[in-house]
Amino acid sequence: MIVVQVTRMSSQRPIKPMVIIGSGGHAFCLREIAALAGFNVIGAIDRTATDIQQVNGLPILGGDDLLLDSSFIQDHQFAVGIGNPVARNRYGDLLLRQGADCPPIINPSSYVSADASLGAGVLLMGMNAVNHGARLDDFVALDWQVTVGHGSHLGRAVFAGPGSRVAGDVECGKESYLGLGCQVIEKVSIGEHSVIGAGATVTRNIPANVVAVGSPAKVIKENPLNTDHSLGPKLSG
Ligand SMILES: CC(C)(COP(=O)(O)OP(=O)(O)OC[C@H]1O[C@@H](n2cnc3c(N)ncnc32)[C@H](O)[C@@H]1OP(=O)(O)O)[C@@H](O)C(=O)NCCC(=O)NCCS
Repeated sequence: MIVVQVTRMSSQRPIKPMVIIGSGGHAFCLREIAALAGFNVIGAIDRTATDIQQVNGLPILGGDDLLLDSSFIQDHQFAVGIGNPVARNRYGDLLLRQGADCPPIINPSSYVSADASLGAGVLLMGMNAVNHGARLDDFVALDWQVTVGHGSHLGRAVFAGPGSRVAGDVECGKESYLGLGCQVIEKVSIGEHSVIGAGATVTRNIPANVVAVGSPAKVIKENPLNTDHSLGPKLSG
């Protein structure tokens, strides 16, 4: 993990133009926040790109094979605009292996403790609070008004839906998904690739690869990992 210590809101203007991976709803939200944070978004990569030239005014630069082009990688910064944690993790993994620059994108309305750490490609959509000693691994995405308590750790590509609240010393495994407005009390853990339903209150540890809903949250079913990589980059080589 490339850890960026955030000591204050950055006023430094990035130099390279930024490319967003994806061209769906999450990508367009990300585009707006990236612009607000001072990045220069010039286009998107769309895995299904054929002859599409633009979506909502955002130029489509090509398909996933562009991520194998070393000069393209060197000349740009990248942000993964995909909500699904598994897909975001797979694209993030490819980007970092290719040596891509994936800066954290932080809406200036958010607060990040000087003692928190953010990995590559972390997104703080807006009005977030990341408290003392919290650690957000690469490609974690916090939607609007998510708070993360002191000492909590969100593993790679965790997605936290709008208004979700994570108390102190919580452990969220990689690719886990916190639904809209859920609450997680202190010192519990949520296993990798598990989904917490909207509005749930998590009061006990939740195992990996399950869906849990309600207050207190109870496991209702398995959430099997998609192992065929159909959510990941679509490469011809
Ligand atoms: C938990 C969730 C993933 C389950 O979705 P699903 O796999 O399609 O499951 P279903 O809709 O078939 O629901 C299964 C059961 O759980 C219940 N359920 C689903 N979501 C629930 C929730 N959030 N709270 C309480 N119960 C819930 C359903 O009523 C259903 O109960 P039943 O079997 O008694 O009828 C989904 O409902 C959810 O909460 N997603 C989060 C959405 C979100 O936060 N989006 C943010 C986008 S930015």
